Amino acid sequence: MTAATFPLEITQTKRSGLQEVDFNNLGFGRIMSDHMFVADYDNGQWQNSRIVPYGDLSLSPATAALHYGQAIFEGMKAYRTQEGDTLLFRALDNWNRLNKSAERMCMPTIPEEIFMGGLTELIRLDSDWIPSAEGCALYIRPFMFATDPFIGVKPSDTFSFIIFTGPVAAYFAKPPRVKIETHFIRSAEGGVGGAKCAGNYAGSLYPAKLAQQEGYDQLIWTDAREHAYIEESGAMNVMFVMDGKLVTPFVSDTTLDGITRKTIVAIAHHWGIPVEERKISVDEIIKAIKEGQLESAFGSGTAAVVSHIEAIGFKGVDYELPAVKKDSFAQKVKDYLGDIYTGKAEDIFGWTLKI
Ligand code: PLP
Ligand code: COI
Repeated sequence: MTAATFPLEITQTKRSGLQEVDFNNLGFGRIMSDHMFVADYDNGQWQNSRIVPYGDLSLSPATAALHYGQAIFEGMKAYRTQEGDTLLFRALDNWNRLNKSAERMCMPTIPEEIFMGGLTELIRLDSDWIPSAEGCALYIRPFMFATDPFIGVKPSDTFSFIIFTGPVAAYFAKPPRVKIETHFIRSAEGGVGGAKCAGNYAGSLYPAKLAQQEGYDQLIWTDAREHAYIEESGAMNVMFVMDGKLVTPFVSDTTLDGITRKTIVAIAHHWGIPVEERKISVDEIIKAIKEGQLESAFGSGTAAVVSHIEAIGFKGVDYELPAVKKDSFAQKVKDYLGDIYTGKAEDIFGWTLKI
């Protein structure tokens, strides 16, 4: 029996992997929990919802997603509170964004009851996998991909929707050094930059590899027309604190509408800190650094949470940023977010869901 409001079959694993996990050494993204939720789309509807042991998939070599990239995903987290409860953070926003990505990529949307019901049952079943150490969480990866075994280019008629999870620690082992990219692009107006689709990440790997060879951890993408304006980073939106204001690029169809980003913007408004969501030129940031006006720069994201940026590289020069002060906005918002995620701070915004 499950609490889901749709037919959901649950097959439990015969052998849990939990005992083999070193919770003091989680890293990010390599450890998966015992089960996964799966639903199939066929004949115009989602069906066959099930929770099964986490494991390999069997796919035709002609599977459409493997050739033409009709594949989208989300990233979200569940946290353990001090009382032992489980909290999901802004899960409905992830559901909404997944459906926006689906529309852009010609894929079916997922009904709320399947997304939320499948997610809730899965996390309840694997709740022992949620870490409780500071900065750790259960990372949740919902994704959908085209499954037609057909190699003509057309939208698939069949899809799989899967959610799996895994305990994670911080995404970055140390504050990232980022390079402002002025040759390659992540997205252009009218493209798919606003969708959380697989190809956006594939296309970013080569420029990111070149930057890593130069000693950077991530790129900051700039606009495709002039490379003059800051867009976002590899797996984060970017934010700057200067002149007592929080300044961040506005979201357009070239950038991901980050849930952590809008959360931080809402907190800044609540704290009475002026927020500017606007075009930000690279020149403005470099000038602010040179003149000592940039208090801090940080990335925001589900995996990255709030990641202080240590240095910004631009046209061969590395600009070291000031160390983050305890009472800075960046540090305070990072701490406050951590407290909301884990139920230590009262959730006055209604962002968390106890499951
Ligand atoms: N931008 C990109 C390209 C990302 O991959 C992510 C991560 O999800 C973000 C921004 C931050 O989005 P969110 O805060 O919703 O995780
Ligand atoms: C997330 O923050 O959840 C992301 O999707 C980033 C991911 C590419 C690691």
